[in-house]
Amino acid sequence: MLAAREHGYETNAMAGYDASKAASTFDLDPEQYIPVMAIAIGKPDETAEEITTTRYPISELVDFS
Ligand SMILES: Cc1cc2nc3c(=O)[nH]c(=O)nc-3n(C[C@H](O)[C@H](O)[C@H](O)COP(=O)(O)O)c2cc1C
Repeated sequence: MLAAREHGYETNAMAGYDASKAASTFDLDPEQYIPVMAIAIGKPDETAEEITTTRYPISELVDFS
């Protein structure tokens, strides 16, 4: 997701899909591949308004000492 953003794309993690069908949908062996999440990727909407959802300050959650 960070690499995608570095190349000008935005992403969104999703777990709300039928994981039991995901591997076969993409012609992958469901015995070998167990999907843990899907990642939507696309060009950001330049006209979108600023994100208004609440975020905790990173300093309250992570300490890089
Ligand atoms: C592993 C993972 C799975 C997620 N699955 C979903 C999902 O199925 N549906 C959803 O609405 N958001 C899901 N999210 C959250 C979205 O990726 C995204 O953070 C959220 O929709 C942003 O909304 P917000 O701006 O209100 O926080 C997931 C996040 C993670 C890390």
